[in-house]
Amino acid sequence: MWDPENIPWEEYDQLIQKMLKPSRYKHSHCVMERAVELAEKNGADVTKARLAGLLHDIMKNVEQKEMLQFIEDSGIILLYADLCAPQLWHAIAGAAYLKEKLGIDDPDVLNAVRYHTTGRAGMSKLEKVVYLADLTSADRDYPDVKKARKIADRSLDEGVLYGSEYLISDLVQQERVLHPDTLACYDELIRQGVKTGR
Ligand SMILES: [Fe+2]
Ligand SMILES: [Fe+2]
Repeated sequence: MWDPENIPWEEYDQLIQKMLKPSRYKHSHCVMERAVELAEKNGADVTKARLAGLLHDIMKNVEQKEMLQFIEDSGIILLYADLCAPQLWHAIAGAAYLKEKLGIDDPDVLNAVRYHTTGRAGMSKLEKVVYLADLTSADRDYPDVKKARKIADRSLDEGVLYGSEYLISDLVQQERVLHPDTLACYDELIRQGVKTGR
């Protein structure tokens, strides 16, 4: 049972150190720190942000076959669109791992992990915080990361919109499939009148 007062931080840290490659382990800490920063700035739950940030990529370095098996064993039915996007399996499997293996049953924490790669329509504040922490953590060095950080610091919605635009155009450039959750995330923010002012 989820108990925010008694989170075994040390145990979780050792677990991800075992499960992740060193660079991914470092990334997890950077995302955790950035998630805390964004949560404090935006009035999101700081403990949940820290936890989701630390654990968001827990399944990232697991073999794809094993990941799919774990997803199946957890009773999750993948959509065709999910099957076409292997880069997001670790997010689905990660949320399932948190629930099944670590007993974390807070829906907001689980969704923050589940949707950190695609985003989705109707994201909570915590989901936006973790999505943006992943995109703008200190270890990230893609072109325009400074711009992404600046926009995320200004507004969660603008940051998520910028992230979706970046992701969509990157996937289009590579002629890869777009996941419907990413499009729904983008569409919703546009309909709400959010602009990044790029
Ligand atoms: Fe990830
Ligand atoms: Fe990540």
